[in-house]
Amino acid sequence: MSEPSGGPWDVVVIGAGAAGLFCAALAGQRGLKVLLLEHMAEPGKKILISGGGRCNFTNVHTVPERFVSANPHFARSALARYTPQDFVALVNKHRIPWYEKTLGQLFCDGAGSAKKIVQLLLDEAAAGGVQVRLNTAVTGVSKADTFTVETSIGPEAARAVVVASGGLSIPKIGATGLAYDIASRFGMPLAQTRPGLVPLTFGAEALADMAPFSGASLDAVARADGPAFREAMLFTHRGLSGPSILQASSYWHPGQPLRLDLAPDRPGAAWLTEAKRTRPRQALAPVLAEVMPGRFADHVVGKLLPHALARPLADLKDRELEGLAATLHDWQVWPTGTEGYLKAEVTVGGIDTNALSSRTMAAKAVPGLYFIGEAVDVTGWLGGYNFQWAWASAHAAAAALTGE
Ligand code: FDA
Repeated sequence: MSEPSGGPWDVVVIGAGAAGLFCAALAGQRGLKVLLLEHMAEPGKKILISGGGRCNFTNVHTVPERFVSANPHFARSALARYTPQDFVALVNKHRIPWYEKTLGQLFCDGAGSAKKIVQLLLDEAAAGGVQVRLNTAVTGVSKADTFTVETSIGPEAARAVVVASGGLSIPKIGATGLAYDIASRFGMPLAQTRPGLVPLTFGAEALADMAPFSGASLDAVARADGPAFREAMLFTHRGLSGPSILQASSYWHPGQPLRLDLAPDRPGAAWLTEAKRTRPRQALAPVLAEVMPGRFADHVVGKLLPHALARPLADLKDRELEGLAATLHDWQVWPTGTEGYLKAEVTVGGIDTNALSSRTMAAKAVPGLYFIGEAVDVTGWLGGYNFQWAWASAHAAAAALTGE
């Protein structure tokens, strides 16, 4: 065991991910003596792989309604006090080129450019005199007059502790359940955790309708027990993925169906009955293929109206076409599970927000203990919302630590 160094600290921040790096930097720049602990050999590993290596660092359409939480109002205060524009100003200050991809999603420009966000955070931490200690696993936190943070290289004493160790997603790049263990140790409640922004898997029967089309995608609206998301849907060899499915997955619970509109640009049945009138000699499948991959269109016709495979549209009854359209607009599938934390971009659930101040992220029952970022039961939609939550919750805690 090597000797602990430099303490006691004003603040020990646990986890050098997005939230921890940003909170440590802000607290350091406001004059606090800060130690940032990380068990991996490198900080910000999730940032590096985010957004396909370009880091979708915020979303200009950030509003509390785009976050999943048992308390839909919890994120409001922090999000209002640190906005996407605030983070964009920081990105601009560091002269990092960025662009808006779609749906308000801001990405760094250039392959591998996510590392510029990690560098931004490290530069800001250095400007705050933060001591960053890598390869140092935190194993527990206790409190007497001050906090003791137990680590793999010895204990550290601190006046305050910020837990920014994230959720359970992607264990191979550092995710652990440490935040939940610390919360439990202090008697704080947890909102049940589950993988979010994750591909959905299906049983053999449903897979027969999907797996043959693995790799194909279509524009779809997907809905579980929450809002409807219109974006691409992707067939995989295990079920469904793509942005619309990932979004809906955060609202899906085992035993529930997933509802899909496979022809969102063609409301009602008029597109089919109209095609029958104007193109009576055409077959049905090519009409469906205007909105979905051709092989899948053939499969849909074979499954739902098999006699239409060998006949022109003129031979089909309007009633049949209306029934087909209704099915396509509300195609119900029953996932059997998800691809789990190995593939999930986020963890839904976490530290119960009832136990935290929405203004400061402080544990109500444990003065000086804070939880920020993904560890908390606040989960953003796909598209930069999770990083915005990391920045905003980090900012709220840093402001509280310095009495603002
Ligand atoms: P985060 O998980 O980033 O950091 C926690 C840190 O704590 C890690 O460095 C971990 O190693 C460390 N730690 C854990 N246990 C420890 C222990 N016992 N001791 C010491 N350290 C410990 N979001 C978004 O807004 N835009 C995007 O483009 C993407 N893209 C994306 C892609 C992929 C593949 C994934 C998996 C996720 C995303 N996300 C995303 C989600 C986003 O990455 C995520 O919500 C944030 O990184 C959460 O930040 P935190 O700092 O809270 O946790």
